Amino acid sequence: MARAVVLLLLAVAALSCTSAAASGPSCHADDSAALLAVKAAFNNASFFEYWTPEFPCCDWYGVDCGDDYLPSDDRVISLAITRDDNITGTIPGDAIAGLTRLRDITFFKVPGITGPIPAALANISGLRVLTISHTAVSGPIPSFIGDKFTDLGILDLSFNSLTGAIPASLAKPPKLNSIDLSRNRLTGSIPRLLLSKAGQQAFLTLSHNNLTGRIPAEFGAVNFVQIDLSRNQLTGDASMLFGSGKKELVSAYLSRNALSFNMSQLQLPEELNFLDVSHNSIYGSIPAQMANMTDIQLLNVSYNRLCGEVPTGGNMPSFDAYCFQHNKCLCGAPLSPCTH
Ligand SMILES: *[C@@H]1O[C@H](CO)[C@@H](O)[C@H](O)[C@H]1NC(C)=O
Ligand SMILES: *[C@@H]1O[C@H](CO)[C@@H](O)[C@H](O)[C@H]1NC(C)=O
Ligand SMILES: *[C@@H]1O[C@H](CO)[C@@H](O)[C@H](O)[C@H]1NC(C)=O
Ligand SMILES: *[C@@H]1O[C@H](CO)[C@@H](O)[C@H](O)[C@H]1NC(C)=O
Ligand SMILES: *[C@@H]1O[C@H](CO)[C@@H](O)[C@H](O)[C@H]1NC(C)=O
Ligand SMILES: *[C@@H]1O[C@H](CO)[C@@H](O)[C@H](O)[C@H]1NC(C)=O
Ligand SMILES: *[C@@H]1O[C@H](CO)[C@@H](O)[C@H](O)[C@H]1NC(C)=O
Repeated sequence: MARAVVLLLLAVAALSCTSAAASGPSCHADDSAALLAVKAAFNNASFFEYWTPEFPCCDWYGVDCGDDYLPSDDRVISLAITRDDNITGTIPGDAIAGLTRLRDITFFKVPGITGPIPAALANISGLRVLTISHTAVSGPIPSFIGDKFTDLGILDLSFNSLTGAIPASLAKPPKLNSIDLSRNRLTGSIPRLLLSKAGQQAFLTLSHNNLTGRIPAEFGAVNFVQIDLSRNQLTGDASMLFGSGKKELVSAYLSRNALSFNMSQLQLPEELNFLDVSHNSIYGSIPAQMANMTDIQLLNVSYNRLCGEVPTGGNMPSFDAYCFQHNKCLCGAPLSPCTH
């Protein structure tokens, strides 16, 4: 036992000698002070046990300095507080804003974090990734996220208790191409120009909220790879999401809304893998071209107002009757035969 402890101590000593000798990052005093303020704001929870001045703060758990181009930079660029049930309190905005070079903030699976997204974060102008997910954070999505974070690329605020509308400013950051606001209690309509600057690939997840109104017509010009608007109260047309030009579209989840449009002439991109439009008020017929879609793995048009024959061929035999059930007058395999 004692021998094991001695060996362990020797190993630790050897490790710290190595890191002191290597040209690895030291830690800027301002960043170290800011991180200790974060630790104190969370009542020195056990997550932060090894955030102590004995080690350079760039080595602290959840902290990263430099980047691929500046590996020895001593400034903190990434802070990730993740998977801890013991941390409680609000996001200490003033302390975090002291980390002036931050590019990436992550709070993930910390259910004891409550309160709003603090205004002080607006000062971290170089932010590229903001993740606050699976927490109890509440209040509105502040519009400064779109106004101030001009380098933002990824925004994930899913699985929180956020309320209010999606701010129109989220359309502003020119590099923002991935937005996940799912599983909150958001209301109001989807901002018209959301992801309109996303370029070649856009990812949008707004499912499990209370969004109303129509899907913006402007979404017809966005190159979505993945779009999930399911479980809201959206109305009207969704056909702008499809069309032969939508070469990137892999998955479209639109189920459990109040969408209402004629599906007959819909041009579905051949690359589409997942299409769930169940529980809406979609009418017309299933486009014959669907039988030509060789990559389709999930198709669900159940609980709509569709009519006519289910197309045959291609991957169609892999979908059972539950995928087509409860429509107005759909017929043909796997449903009962059509009576012409
Ligand atoms: C956290 O630790 C610091 C430094 O050890 C100490 O000054 C402070 O009182 C502690 N705070 C709490 C809430 O335990
Ligand atoms: C949370 O606190 C409890 C009790 O203090 C402790 O047993 C547990 O290891 C802590 N969990 C984490 C993830 O630190
Ligand atoms: C944020 O920036 C403003 C203006 O530059 C400054 O007055 C304020 O102290 C900053 N807040 C924090 C928390 O750094
Ligand atoms: C949506 O609104 C309804 C009625 O106002 C409410 O019962 C439901 O809990 C809300 N759902 C969400 C995800 O906020
Ligand atoms: C849907 O569109 C098709 C083709 O344009 C048309 O023939 C059909 O009548 C429309 N269905 C409904 C219910 O409006
Ligand atoms: C399906 O593909 C075949 C071969 O490319 C083509 O001839 C046919 O017109 C397509 N059918 C539909 C409904 O798009
Ligand atoms: C399609 O949706 C219906 C209704 O929600 C559901 O019962 C069925 O399991 C779904 N099928 C697939 C393959 O997702």
